[in-house]
Amino acid sequence: MSRPPTTYWEYIRVEELLALQGGLEKTDEGLSNDEVLFITVHQIDELWFKLIVRELVAVRNLFAQPRVPEQSLASAVRGLRRIRLLFTQVAQHFQLMETMTTRDYLAFRDKLSPASGFQSAQLREIEILLGLEMRLRVPLGGEASYLDALKYPDGRESPASRRVARRLRDRPSLREAVEEWLHRTPIQGSRPSDPDDAATVRRFIEDYLRAHAAETERARTFAEHDGLRPEERTRLDERYASERASARRFLLAEDVEDPAMRARTSRVRAALVFIESYRELPLLAWPREVVDSIVAVEQASLIFRQRHARMVERVIGRRTGTGGSSGVDYLDQTALRYRVFPDVWAVRTLQLREAALPPLEQPELYGLVAEQTR
Ligand code: HEM
Repeated sequence: MSRPPTTYWEYIRVEELLALQGGLEKTDEGLSNDEVLFITVHQIDELWFKLIVRELVAVRNLFAQPRVPEQSLASAVRGLRRIRLLFTQVAQHFQLMETMTTRDYLAFRDKLSPASGFQSAQLREIEILLGLEMRLRVPLGGEASYLDALKYPDGRESPASRRVARRLRDRPSLREAVEEWLHRTPIQGSRPSDPDDAATVRRFIEDYLRAHAAETERARTFAEHDGLRPEERTRLDERYASERASARRFLLAEDVEDPAMRARTSRVRAALVFIESYRELPLLAWPREVVDSIVAVEQASLIFRQRHARMVERVIGRRTGTGGSSGVDYLDQTALRYRVFPDVWAVRTLQLREAALPPLEQPELYGLVAEQTR
Protein backbone atom coordinates (compact mmCIF):
# COMPACT_ATOMS: atom_id res chain seq x y z
CA MET A 1 0.00 0.00 0.00
CA SER A 2 1.42 3.39 -0.94
CA ARG A 3 1.59 6.12 1.74
CA PRO A 4 -0.58 9.25 1.42
CA PRO A 5 1.14 12.08 -0.46
CA THR A 6 3.38 14.18 1.78
CA THR A 7 2.50 17.84 2.25
CA TYR A 8 4.97 20.63 2.93
CA TRP A 9 3.14 21.72 6.10
CA GLU A 10 3.16 18.22 7.57
CA TYR A 11 6.78 17.49 6.77
CA ILE A 12 8.10 20.86 8.01
CA ARG A 13 5.52 20.95 10.84
CA VAL A 14 4.72 24.54 9.90
CA GLU A 15 1.65 25.03 12.11
CA GLU A 16 3.37 23.63 15.21
CA LEU A 17 6.37 25.87 14.49
CA LEU A 18 4.28 29.02 14.06
CA ALA A 19 2.50 28.37 17.35
CA LEU A 20 5.74 28.62 19.35
CA GLN A 21 6.41 32.39 19.47
CA GLY A 22 3.91 33.28 22.20
CA GLY A 23 6.41 33.51 25.09
CA LEU A 24 4.92 33.44 28.60
CA GLU A 25 1.44 34.22 27.18
CA LYS A 26 1.58 31.14 24.93
CA THR A 27 0.07 33.17 22.07
CA ASP A 28 1.71 35.95 20.10
CA GLU A 29 -1.57 37.75 19.37
CA GLY A 30 -1.24 40.37 22.11
CA LEU A 31 2.56 40.69 21.89
CA SER A 32 4.43 43.59 20.30
CA ASN A 33 6.29 42.94 17.06
CA ASP A 34 9.52 43.59 18.95
CA GLU A 35 8.83 40.84 21.45
CA VAL A 36 7.85 38.34 18.75
CA LEU A 37 11.05 39.26 16.88
CA PHE A 38 13.08 38.77 20.08
CA ILE A 39 11.59 35.31 20.70
CA THR A 40 11.79 34.26 17.05
CA VAL A 41 15.44 35.23 16.59
CA HIS A 42 16.37 33.33 19.76
CA GLN A 43 14.49 30.28 18.51
CA ILE A 44 16.13 30.40 15.09
CA ASP A 45 19.53 30.72 16.75
CA GLU A 46 18.82 27.75 19.03
CA LEU A 47 18.04 25.78 15.85
CA TRP A 48 21.36 26.83 14.34
CA PHE A 49 23.02 25.76 17.63
CA LYS A 50 21.31 22.39 17.26
CA LEU A 51 22.88 21.94 13.83
CA ILE A 52 26.28 23.03 15.16
CA VAL A 53 26.04 20.41 17.93
CA ARG A 54 25.19 17.70 15.39
CA GLU A 55 28.08 18.63 13.10
CA LEU A 56 30.50 18.83 16.03
CA VAL A 57 29.53 15.35 17.17
CA ALA A 58 30.05 13.99 13.64
CA VAL A 59 33.45 15.67 13.20
CA ARG A 60 34.56 14.70 16.72
CA ASN A 61 33.59 11.08 16.01
CA LEU A 62 35.73 11.06 12.86
CA PHE A 63 38.79 12.21 14.78
CA ALA A 64 38.11 9.97 17.77
CA GLN A 65 38.86 6.87 15.66
CA PRO A 66 42.16 5.13 16.47
CA ARG A 67 43.13 5.54 12.79
CA VAL A 68 41.53 8.35 10.83
CA PRO A 69 41.14 7.26 7.19
CA GLU A 70 42.65 9.88 4.88
CA GLN A 71 39.47 9.93 2.78
CA SER A 72 37.31 10.99 5.75
CA LEU A 73 39.24 14.24 6.16
CA ALA A 74 37.26 15.83 3.33
CA SER A 75 34.03 15.08 5.25
CA ALA A 76 35.55 16.59 8.39
CA VAL A 77 36.44 19.76 6.49
CA ARG A 78 32.90 19.95 5.05
CA GLY A 79 31.47 19.63 8.57
CA LEU A 80 33.81 22.28 9.96
CA ARG A 81 32.98 24.66 7.10
CA ARG A 82 29.28 24.21 7.82
CA ILE A 83 29.87 24.96 11.52
CA ARG A 84 31.72 28.14 10.61
CA LEU A 85 28.85 29.24 8.39
CA LEU A 86 26.29 28.48 11.08
CA PHE A 87 28.12 30.71 13.57
CA THR A 88 28.19 33.39 10.88
CA GLN A 89 24.41 33.12 10.48
CA VAL A 90 23.83 33.53 14.22
CA ALA A 91 26.08 36.59 14.27
CA GLN A 92 24.17 38.04 11.28
CA HIS A 93 20.89 37.86 13.18
CA PHE A 94 22.08 40.39 15.72
CA GLN A 95 21.38 43.05 13.06
CA LEU A 96 17.71 42.20 13.38
CA MET A 97 17.87 42.75 17.14
CA GLU A 98 19.37 46.17 16.45
CA THR A 99 16.18 47.26 14.69
CA MET A 100 14.71 47.36 18.21
CA THR A 101 15.29 50.54 20.22
CA THR A 102 16.31 50.51 23.88
CA ARG A 103 12.82 51.65 24.93
CA ASP A 104 11.12 49.03 22.74
CA TYR A 105 13.15 46.33 24.47
CA LEU A 106 12.64 47.76 27.95
CA ALA A 107 8.89 47.51 27.36
CA PHE A 108 9.02 43.73 27.78
CA ARG A 109 12.47 43.09 29.33
CA ASP A 110 11.13 42.61 32.88
CA LYS A 111 9.21 39.53 31.76
CA LEU A 112 12.50 37.77 31.05
CA SER A 113 14.26 38.48 34.31
CA PRO A 114 16.13 36.51 35.75
CA ALA A 115 16.25 34.40 32.56
CA SER A 116 19.14 34.93 30.14
CA GLY A 117 20.97 33.53 27.13
CA PHE A 118 23.40 32.40 29.84
CA GLN A 119 20.95 29.53 30.27
CA SER A 120 21.36 28.37 26.66
CA ALA A 121 22.21 24.71 27.23
CA GLN A 122 23.12 24.26 23.61
CA LEU A 123 25.79 26.98 23.64
CA ARG A 124 27.28 25.18 26.66
CA GLU A 125 27.11 21.88 24.75
CA ILE A 126 28.99 23.51 21.88
CA GLU A 127 31.69 24.78 24.24
CA ILE A 128 32.01 21.37 25.91
CA LEU A 129 32.10 19.52 22.59
CA LEU A 130 34.75 21.88 21.26
CA GLY A 131 36.78 21.34 24.46
CA LEU A 132 36.68 24.70 26.23
CA GLU A 133 38.71 24.34 29.41
CA MET A 134 36.86 24.92 32.67
CA ARG A 135 39.65 27.23 33.97
CA LEU A 136 38.96 29.68 31.11
CA ARG A 137 35.29 30.16 31.96
CA VAL A 138 34.33 33.69 32.94
CA PRO A 139 32.19 33.65 36.11
CA LEU A 140 28.73 35.15 35.74
CA GLY A 141 29.40 37.49 38.62
CA GLY A 142 27.82 35.71 41.61
CA GLU A 143 28.77 32.56 43.47
CA ALA A 144 26.85 30.24 41.16
CA SER A 145 28.63 28.34 38.39
CA TYR A 146 27.41 28.10 34.82
CA LEU A 147 25.97 24.69 35.73
CA ASP A 148 23.89 26.11 38.60
CA ALA A 149 22.44 28.70 36.23
CA LEU A 150 20.96 25.88 34.16
CA LYS A 151 18.88 24.54 37.07
CA TYR A 152 15.47 25.80 38.14
CA PRO A 153 15.73 28.73 40.57
CA ASP A 154 14.90 26.38 43.51
CA GLY A 155 17.91 24.22 42.59
CA ARG A 156 16.05 21.34 40.90
CA GLU A 157 17.56 19.79 37.78
CA SER A 158 16.02 21.07 34.52
CA PRO A 159 16.00 19.84 30.92
CA ALA A 160 18.86 22.31 30.33
CA SER A 161 21.01 21.09 33.25
CA ARG A 162 20.43 17.44 32.30
CA ARG A 163 21.33 18.11 28.68
CA VAL A 164 24.62 19.71 29.69
CA ALA A 165 25.40 17.02 32.31
CA ARG A 166 24.95 14.38 29.57
CA ARG A 167 27.27 16.28 27.28
CA LEU A 168 29.93 16.55 29.99
CA ARG A 169 30.04 12.75 30.06
CA ASP A 170 30.33 12.56 26.28
CA ARG A 171 34.09 12.42 25.68
CA PRO A 172 36.45 13.10 24.02
CA SER A 173 36.06 16.73 23.02
CA LEU A 174 36.96 17.79 19.49
CA ARG A 175 40.16 19.36 20.85
CA GLU A 176 41.23 16.14 22.56
CA ALA A 177 40.40 14.02 19.51
CA VAL A 178 42.19 16.36 17.09
CA GLU A 179 45.25 16.56 19.36
CA GLU A 180 45.44 12.77 19.48
CA TRP A 181 45.30 12.68 15.68
CA LEU A 182 47.88 15.46 15.30
CA HIS A 183 50.17 13.66 17.72
CA ARG A 184 50.34 10.72 15.29
CA THR A 185 51.55 12.93 12.39
CA PRO A 186 54.78 11.61 10.88
CA ILE A 187 57.39 14.36 11.33
CA GLN A 188 60.38 14.15 8.97
CA GLY A 189 59.15 10.62 8.27
CA SER A 190 59.18 9.62 11.94
CA ARG A 191 56.17 8.29 13.85
CA PRO A 192 55.65 8.35 17.63
CA SER A 193 56.16 4.58 17.78
CA ASP A 194 59.60 4.79 16.09
CA PRO A 195 62.45 4.20 18.56
CA ASP A 196 64.29 7.45 17.72
CA ASP A 197 61.16 9.57 17.24
CA ALA A 198 61.94 11.98 20.10
CA ALA A 199 65.40 12.69 18.65
CA THR A 200 64.03 13.19 15.10
CA VAL A 201 61.33 15.56 16.31
CA ARG A 202 63.83 17.48 18.44
CA ARG A 203 66.15 17.81 15.42
CA PHE A 204 63.27 19.14 13.33
CA ILE A 205 62.37 21.65 16.03
CA GLU A 206 65.99 22.87 16.32
CA ASP A 207 66.30 23.15 12.51
CA TYR A 208 63.04 25.05 12.39
CA LEU A 209 64.06 27.39 15.21
CA ARG A 210 67.35 28.11 13.43
CA ALA A 211 65.44 28.97 10.24
CA HIS A 212 63.00 31.06 12.28
CA ALA A 213 65.86 32.97 13.95
CA ALA A 214 67.36 33.76 10.54
CA GLU A 215 63.98 34.97 9.27
CA THR A 216 63.32 37.23 12.25
CA GLU A 217 66.82 38.66 11.84
CA ARG A 218 66.01 39.31 8.19
CA ALA A 219 62.71 41.00 9.15
CA ARG A 220 64.56 43.11 11.74
CA THR A 221 67.06 44.38 9.17
CA PHE A 222 64.18 45.36 6.87
CA ALA A 223 62.41 47.19 9.70
CA GLU A 224 65.54 49.10 10.66
CA HIS A 225 66.29 52.40 9.00
CA ASP A 226 68.42 55.47 9.65
CA GLY A 227 65.49 57.52 10.93
CA LEU A 228 65.05 55.33 14.04
CA ARG A 229 65.91 56.85 17.40
CA PRO A 230 68.20 54.68 19.61
CA GLU A 231 65.33 53.74 21.96
CA GLU A 232 63.18 52.73 18.96
CA ARG A 233 66.02 50.60 17.65
CA THR A 234 66.39 48.92 21.06
CA ARG A 235 62.63 48.27 21.23
CA LEU A 236 62.73 46.69 17.78
CA ASP A 237 65.67 44.46 18.73
CA GLU A 238 63.88 43.40 21.89
CA ARG A 239 60.70 42.65 19.99
CA TYR A 240 62.42 40.29 17.55
CA ALA A 241 64.47 38.68 20.33
CA SER A 242 61.26 38.06 22.23
CA GLU A 243 59.66 36.50 19.11
CA ARG A 244 62.59 34.06 18.94
CA ALA A 245 62.35 33.22 22.64
CA SER A 246 58.58 32.67 22.36
CA ALA A 247 59.04 30.39 19.37
CA ARG A 248 61.47 28.21 21.36
CA ARG A 249 59.25 28.19 24.45
CA PHE A 250 56.25 27.23 22.33
CA LEU A 251 57.84 24.46 20.26
CA LEU A 252 59.58 22.88 23.26
CA ALA A 253 56.35 23.37 25.27
CA GLU A 254 58.28 24.93 28.14
CA ASP A 255 54.97 26.30 29.45
CA VAL A 256 53.82 22.75 30.27
CA GLU A 257 54.89 21.53 33.74
CA ASP A 258 54.45 17.77 33.52
CA PRO A 259 57.39 16.23 31.54
CA ALA A 260 55.29 13.58 29.75
CA MET A 261 52.67 16.16 28.78
CA ARG A 262 55.42 18.55 27.74
CA ALA A 263 56.90 16.03 25.28
CA ARG A 264 53.44 15.28 23.93
CA THR A 265 52.45 18.94 23.54
CA SER A 266 55.79 19.68 21.90
CA ARG A 267 55.18 16.93 19.34
CA VAL A 268 51.65 18.19 18.61
CA ARG A 269 52.94 21.74 18.08
CA ALA A 270 55.79 20.49 15.90
CA ALA A 271 53.21 18.52 13.88
CA LEU A 272 51.16 21.68 13.32
CA VAL A 273 54.25 23.53 12.09
CA PHE A 274 55.21 20.56 9.92
CA ILE A 275 51.76 20.28 8.31
CA GLU A 276 51.61 24.00 7.53
CA SER A 277 55.19 24.08 6.24
CA TYR A 278 55.02 21.14 3.85
CA ARG A 279 51.33 21.37 2.96
CA GLU A 280 52.00 20.67 -0.75
CA LEU A 281 52.83 17.03 0.05
CA PRO A 282 49.77 14.97 -0.93
CA LEU A 283 49.43 13.36 2.48
CA LEU A 284 49.55 16.71 4.27
CA ALA A 285 47.19 18.63 1.99
CA TRP A 286 43.94 17.55 3.72
CA PRO A 287 45.34 17.74 7.26
CA ARG A 288 46.29 21.32 6.45
CA GLU A 289 42.71 22.04 5.33
CA VAL A 290 41.45 20.53 8.60
CA VAL A 291 43.72 22.79 10.65
CA ASP A 292 42.68 25.84 8.63
CA SER A 293 38.99 24.98 9.04
CA ILE A 294 39.47 24.70 12.80
CA VAL A 295 40.89 28.22 12.87
CA ALA A 296 37.93 29.39 10.76
CA VAL A 297 35.44 27.80 13.20
CA GLU A 298 37.10 29.38 16.21
CA GLN A 299 37.33 32.73 14.44
CA ALA A 300 33.60 32.60 13.59
CA SER A 301 32.68 31.67 17.16
CA LEU A 302 34.73 34.59 18.54
CA ILE A 303 33.17 36.97 16.02
CA PHE A 304 29.73 35.69 17.11
CA ARG A 305 30.62 36.58 20.73
CA GLN A 306 32.00 39.99 19.82
CA ARG A 307 29.05 40.77 17.58
CA HIS A 308 26.61 39.80 20.33
CA ALA A 309 28.44 42.11 22.75
CA ARG A 310 28.28 45.07 20.35
CA MET A 311 24.58 44.48 19.72
CA VAL A 312 23.94 44.27 23.47
CA GLU A 313 25.89 47.50 24.05
CA ARG A 314 23.80 49.22 21.40
CA VAL A 315 20.46 48.00 22.75
CA ILE A 316 20.96 48.10 26.55
CA GLY A 317 24.22 49.96 27.05
CA ARG A 318 26.38 48.76 29.94
CA ARG A 319 23.64 47.90 32.40
CA THR A 320 23.52 44.63 34.37
CA GLY A 321 22.25 41.65 32.35
CA THR A 322 18.96 39.94 33.14
CA GLY A 323 21.07 36.92 34.10
CA GLY A 324 22.90 39.08 36.67
CA SER A 325 26.25 39.41 34.89
CA SER A 326 28.07 42.69 34.24
CA GLY A 327 26.46 42.51 30.78
CA VAL A 328 28.69 43.83 27.99
CA ASP A 329 31.86 43.47 30.11
CA TYR A 330 31.08 39.81 30.76
CA LEU A 331 30.38 39.17 27.07
CA ASP A 332 33.58 40.95 25.99
CA GLN A 333 35.59 38.82 28.40
CA THR A 334 34.17 35.62 26.93
CA ALA A 335 35.09 36.87 23.44
CA LEU A 336 38.66 37.44 24.63
CA ARG A 337 39.15 34.25 26.62
CA TYR A 338 37.15 31.46 25.02
CA ARG A 339 39.86 30.03 22.78
CA VAL A 340 39.85 26.28 22.49
CA PHE A 341 42.66 25.93 19.94
CA PRO A 342 45.32 28.49 20.95
CA ASP A 343 48.18 26.37 19.55
CA VAL A 344 46.64 26.28 16.09
CA TRP A 345 46.55 30.07 16.12
CA ALA A 346 50.03 30.36 17.64
CA VAL A 347 51.61 28.48 14.74
CA ARG A 348 50.65 31.39 12.46
CA THR A 349 53.19 33.55 14.30
CA LEU A 350 55.99 31.07 13.60
CA GLN A 351 55.36 30.22 9.98
CA LEU A 352 58.13 30.84 7.46
CA ARG A 353 58.44 31.56 3.77
CA GLU A 354 58.68 28.38 1.71
CA ALA A 355 62.24 29.27 0.65
CA ALA A 356 63.34 29.55 4.29
CA LEU A 357 62.06 26.14 5.46
CA PRO A 358 64.44 23.43 6.67
CA PRO A 359 64.91 20.63 4.10
CA LEU A 360 62.34 17.87 4.19
CA GLU A 361 63.44 14.32 5.00
CA GLN A 362 61.83 11.22 3.44
CA PRO A 363 59.38 13.12 1.17
CA GLU A 364 58.42 9.82 -0.51
CA LEU A 365 56.59 8.88 2.70
CA TYR A 366 54.08 11.68 2.17
CA GLY A 367 52.98 10.75 -1.33
CA LEU A 368 49.55 9.35 -2.05
CA VAL A 369 50.00 5.71 -1.22
CA ALA A 370 47.49 2.91 -0.86
CA GLU A 371 48.67 2.14 2.65
CA GLN A 372 47.39 4.55 5.31
CA THR A 373 50.10 6.20 7.30
CA ARG A 374 47.97 7.84 9.99
C1 HEM B 1 18.16 42.62 22.68
C2 HEM B 1 18.72 41.46 22.53
C3 HEM B 1 19.67 40.85 23.51
C4 HEM B 1 20.22 41.36 24.65
C5 HEM B 1 19.99 42.72 25.27
C6 HEM B 1 21.07 40.34 25.21
C7 HEM B 1 21.81 40.49 26.38
C8 HEM B 1 22.61 39.53 26.93
C9 HEM B 1 23.40 39.69 28.14
C10 HEM B 1 23.48 40.97 28.96
C11 HEM B 1 24.04 38.53 28.39
C12 HEM B 1 24.99 38.21 29.56
C13 HEM B 1 24.33 37.35 30.59
C14 HEM B 1 23.34 38.12 31.43
O1 HEM B 1 23.74 38.73 32.41
O2 HEM B 1 22.15 38.09 31.08
C15 HEM B 1 23.67 37.62 27.33
C16 HEM B 1 24.11 36.33 27.21
C17 HEM B 1 23.80 35.50 26.15
N1 HEM B 1 22.98 35.79 25.10
FE1 HEM B 1 22.07 37.54 24.70
N2 HEM B 1 21.07 39.26 24.38
C18 HEM B 1 20.22 39.53 23.34
C19 HEM B 1 19.95 38.71 22.28
C20 HEM B 1 20.46 37.45 22.11
C21 HEM B 1 20.18 36.59 20.98
C22 HEM B 1 19.32 36.91 19.76
C23 HEM B 1 20.82 35.43 21.23
C24 HEM B 1 20.80 34.26 20.30
C25 HEM B 1 21.72 33.36 20.22
C26 HEM B 1 21.51 35.54 22.50
C27 HEM B 1 22.25 34.56 23.12
C28 HEM B 1 22.94 34.70 24.28
C29 HEM B 1 23.77 33.66 24.83
C30 HEM B 1 23.99 32.28 24.24
C31 HEM B 1 24.33 34.17 26.00
C32 HEM B 1 25.31 33.47 26.92
C33 HEM B 1 26.73 33.88 26.52
C34 HEM B 1 27.80 33.24 27.38
O3 HEM B 1 27.57 33.02 28.57
O4 HEM B 1 28.89 32.98 26.86
N3 HEM B 1 21.27 36.79 22.99
N4 HEM B 1 22.81 38.26 26.45
